[in-house]
Amino acid sequence: MKRIAFVQQKGGVGKTSLAIHGACTLASMGHKTLLVDMDPQGSILAWYEHATSLPEKLSASVCESAKDLDDLKGFSYVIIDTPGRLSAAVLPHCEAVVLPVAPSPLDVWAVADSVQLVKNHQAQRPALKAALMVNRMQPNTRLSREIFDVIKGYEMPMIQQPVRQRTAYATSLANGGFEKNEEMQVFAQNLINLSK
Ligand SMILES: Nc1ncnc2c1ncn2[C@@H]1O[C@H](COP(=O)(O)OP(=O)(O)OP(=O)(O)O)[C@@H](O)[C@H]1O
Ligand SMILES: [Mg+2]
Repeated sequence: MKRIAFVQQKGGVGKTSLAIHGACTLASMGHKTLLVDMDPQGSILAWYEHATSLPEKLSASVCESAKDLDDLKGFSYVIIDTPGRLSAAVLPHCEAVVLPVAPSPLDVWAVADSVQLVKNHQAQRPALKAALMVNRMQPNTRLSREIFDVIKGYEMPMIQQPVRQRTAYATSLANGGFEKNEEMQVFAQNLINLSK
């Protein structure tokens, strides 16, 4: 069982959107997947309760304490959405973490703290896999081109394929579903590869 958390102290970078889409896509590929909402805002649960035609292999639950992640059993993947302030607490309880970053100067600077947090943890537990990942990429913008160079400076592995800025990622959730496309298939495969 692989527990993969989306962590980033900065808000609004896409942790929840990517966790939902990653979990749904893994489940639709046939992997028994649990989507865990650690955010007291409970947005995942609200979405899940109103969602229709979700993959059969997807379950969702809330989790109030990171320690409870150790008791989970029977899933191939556990995908965890965290609120920014819980970033440090979840690290000891997962096999892998993804740090989304959006191509805006403020987001790129803000990710430095989260990168340091993860690196400090890896110094104690090198088995923790971690990767940065660009979300909300808009091709042909200068920031989107430059972000890859900036990220290299953090000396942390990066998920090579970014996720683009697409209205469908928001509207599909609002409509009680999730967006199915080639980009999400690659994203899910990258989650599998990261956690191997
Ligand atoms: N790839 C994308 N394309 C378009 N919109 C996106 C994308 N990723 C996220 N968004 C939008 O950005 C906003 C913030 O995303 P989300 O709520 O997933 O971020 P978050 O990191 O979970 O935020 P918080 O820290 O507040 O929990 C939402 O309105 C979401 O629909
Ligand atoms: Mg969120």
